[in-house]
Amino acid sequence: MQLDIQHLQQNYAQAKPALNDINLTLHSGIIGLLGPNGAGKSSLMRILATLSQPSAGNVLWNGVDVLRKPAVLRRELGYLPQSFGVYDNLSAWEFLHYLAGLKGLTNQQAKTKINELLHMLNLADVAKQPLGSFSGGMKQRVGIAQALLNDPKLLIVDEPTVGLDPQERARFRDLLSDMSGDRIIILSTHIVSDVESIADNIAMLREGELLAYAKPESLLAGLRHAVWQCTVPKVQVAAMAQQFCISQSVRQADGMQLRIVSHESPCAGAKNIPPTLEDVFLYYCQSSQSESVTHAQEVAA
Ligand SMILES: Nc1ncnc2c1ncn2[C@@H]1O[C@H](COP(=O)(O)OP(=O)(O)O)[C@@H](O)[C@H]1O
Ligand SMILES: [Mg+2]
Repeated sequence: MQLDIQHLQQNYAQAKPALNDINLTLHSGIIGLLGPNGAGKSSLMRILATLSQPSAGNVLWNGVDVLRKPAVLRRELGYLPQSFGVYDNLSAWEFLHYLAGLKGLTNQQAKTKINELLHMLNLADVAKQPLGSFSGGMKQRVGIAQALLNDPKLLIVDEPTVGLDPQERARFRDLLSDMSGDRIIILSTHIVSDVESIADNIAMLREGELLAYAKPESLLAGLRHAVWQCTVPKVQVAAMAQQFCISQSVRQADGMQLRIVSHESPCAGAKNIPPTLEDVFLYYCQSSQSESVTHAQEVAA
């Protein structure tokens, strides 16, 4: 199984392209597409889901040109869009049955598959209840169920954890992890913890540019010896933020304890600490040094 993305370009009306010369070859496993809002994640996913045409470039599914022959991929595609609307008056079962029909499943195939998915997604008990009565997490599970109706070889889920509480988020991660195997799963998010434990590979996107594509371990290895901790007087924090990428600041009795991503020691007495993926994300995604303060998390000690 192979998805080739070649020189993909998406230009909307604004000056800066939403996607600029994206090149990637994906194989089975979970790919975390990580980037801040506006990075181009949804634009990329809509093209891969054959819902929009790029301005230039190619997408090949097992060697077949997807832009010319979208039907070949559509048969093997499951897609959960970023905003997934449901019909509040339909029950989960009716909704899935309706979509199964659109996807070309026979009545018998649909019944079997829907029952299987409802059990897998822990929705069997509420299958006959109207979707309007469902929580965000339950609706999201219905969204996943519809994406899995045709047992897709390419599963694309766009920011699936938005609106989920921490427990539902964890459950969702486990679910995707269980489903991986002989398929390509692409999961987009702007939240590092959504992907750090489950992604086999991470693609970092910012302002339409692919900044990195690597295994989480390699991304972390790239920042080994580049994350520092030091405590400075509060008045110095603004000046430090101008100069360095600060990934966290913690208020302490004797000043601010800063976590800084820098290839050089940021100040006297700074101590090297192990990087996290959050540091990596910040390192790649801050668009200018002065913005690091807004990205940085301030934690009360
Ligand atoms: N249909 C569209 N028409 C015009 N501009 C768009 C459209 N979709 C996205 N954009 C712009 O393209 C950029 C990338 O957006 P998007 O792909 O939604 O990013 P993300 O999903 O990472 O938040 C943004 O600047 C956004 O405003
Ligand atoms: Mg998006």
